[in-house]
Amino acid sequence: MSYHLILNKFSSFIGIITLSLFIYSISMDVQQHNWYSVWALLPQDVTEQVKKVMNSLRSELGGPEFEPHVTVVGAIRLTEDEAREKLIKACDGLKAYNMTIEKVDNTGRLFLLHKTPEVMETGAHCWSHFGYKGETPYMPHLSILYGDLSEEEKKRAQEKANALDESIKKSFPITRLALYKTDPEDKALESWEKVSEVTLKSD
Ligand SMILES: *[C@@H]1O[C@H](CO)[C@@H](O)[C@H](O)[C@H]1NC(C)=O
Repeated sequence: MSYHLILNKFSSFIGIITLSLFIYSISMDVQQHNWYSVWALLPQDVTEQVKKVMNSLRSELGGPEFEPHVTVVGAIRLTEDEAREKLIKACDGLKAYNMTIEKVDNTGRLFLLHKTPEVMETGAHCWSHFGYKGETPYMPHLSILYGDLSEEEKKRAQEKANALDESIKKSFPITRLALYKTDPEDKALESWEKVSEVTLKSD
């Protein structure tokens, strides 16, 4: 074989390897990027109380089942490793904090929370660690029902949530932030799952 022929074969070999690596890295990328959110987890007793309210609303108005939570960072596209690392780093600079429920909002689908400095600062701190920019400013809330409701249903949900409101403890500590996989396209929420959880330092 002439020197040129060998060189030709060699460079096409390298070309194929490079191309395969390129395609492989693209496919890995597609596999690894997912939608992740950061949730503040409620204490166990509050979780139980909120679940009862959610079950009651859902039995009348439908919608998917989900774990009670307060979103701190909305859905953002990352690899799992990136997301886990960002959560650990963000929590490193945070302490356990308190939340207080203010009232049921006028759609009957969520409880609004008091925008206390610690709640808002925790949001801002996590947004900056995750490089997240929301379409609207951070609005701390606790969802109790998902799905589109007619005006009539909203009224009914609001009445019902207000009636059940008293069964929920209004102020509680947040000691855990969790990373959840939350694909916004998955309306049944079947793919939503907890990926990791970090306990916040307390004083
Ligand atoms: C949270 O509230 C409890 C009870 O009111 C209080 O003892 C505690 O100091 C508060 N924690 C923070 C971090 O403000």
